[in-house]
Amino acid sequence: MSVPLLKLADRPVLVLFSGGDAPGMNACLRALARLGINRHNVPILAVRQGYRGLVEAARQARTVDGLASLKHQIETSTGRLGLIDRKQQLILMDHASVSAIVRIGGIILGSARCKEFLQPAVRAEVIALLKELNVRGIVICGGDGSLAGAELLAKESNLKVVGIPATIDNDLDYTEMALGVDTAVNTVAENVDRFKDTAKSHRRVMVLEVMGRASGELARLAAIASGAEMVVTPRHALKAADVTKLAESLAAGLRQGRSHAIVMVAEGVAFEPEIMRNDPRPFAVPDDPDQPPAQPVLRNRAYVLADAFQDYFAKTDDLNDLEIRPSVLGHLQRGGDATPGDAILAAKFAEAAMRQVMDESAGNGITALQYGRVKVVPFGAEALPDRQEIMSSMDDLHGIMSSW
Ligand code: F6P
Repeated sequence: MSVPLLKLADRPVLVLFSGGDAPGMNACLRALARLGINRHNVPILAVRQGYRGLVEAARQARTVDGLASLKHQIETSTGRLGLIDRKQQLILMDHASVSAIVRIGGIILGSARCKEFLQPAVRAEVIALLKELNVRGIVICGGDGSLAGAELLAKESNLKVVGIPATIDNDLDYTEMALGVDTAVNTVAENVDRFKDTAKSHRRVMVLEVMGRASGELARLAAIASGAEMVVTPRHALKAADVTKLAESLAAGLRQGRSHAIVMVAEGVAFEPEIMRNDPRPFAVPDDPDQPPAQPVLRNRAYVLADAFQDYFAKTDDLNDLEIRPSVLGHLQRGGDATPGDAILAAKFAEAAMRQVMDESAGNGITALQYGRVKVVPFGAEALPDRQEIMSSMDDLHGIMSSW
């Protein structure tokens, strides 16, 4: 058996997970570590808490004797030992440190959103540190914001940088699937079953809010997978007339004998003020993806839509006692064991990323699933040409299957 390389002199590949965690990230970390050590013969230097960990390590390196003690820490406190010490930001991974994590949700390294990394001077310090540590290339796994950070690193350093898309939002248009989507769809579908049980018992309409920021992908896929009666995704701001049309369609189904209805609403759906009941409170999820959701959570789309439906049904003769119940699925959508689909995608993305980093003639880029195959596309790649078409055909498919 080969002895794992655990020295900075062996020019490690830095791996970093950032932004909102997504199921499959641990599978990805495991694959990167095992591929690095077993196939490419290269050490894998993992970062705790995403970009924040890098910024903190750069800060530590700037203190008196900081760089020497950082290097010493990295080379003496490796693998599980390094993972246990929560103050250690950079950890040389070994085989054992990624054992038994392939399906576990979240990311064992921790993740964070880091505004400081947007400052060029902070990035310059990070880049200087990476050079001191002999880093040969970087793999960054995360969503939109995290991959934008990867692109900046690629532009400002001469290091090879490869991104891996991971976000339950599935809002990265150059890949059919991001890591975490399959599991999140599975989680939403599983929970819809529970909502259905109670909805059927009371003949209720349940309005369920699904994550996804400005994208309706998670809601769209979960609606097909769970047999939800209706799905509302972000397009134009919904007017009173649009909501009436949706309510009419629910009413038609109920009049024909439907026992209940599940309405899935994406968290990024917008409403015209006419249906907001003059409620000035801001939404829990802001439209700007760089802004964290408002704290405390003030209002969710599910509540607005449920109120508007309730107003409609109250005015009907035959369904005026129908009850509408809103629920926000929230962060449970991000947790849970990764599905085999996500674990497999993680391995494939990691494999492509490691090959790209190790191939000196290859450029920077992001791994992407296109027409069933994993490839590496350049930063700033165009959306898949038929991505829009695929989404509308899924909406049609859902519409046909759910109409009575
Ligand atoms: O981007 C992933 C995501 O889960 C979104 O779907 C959601 O709007 C947001 O992150 C929630 O962010 P936070 O975990 O900071 O509350």
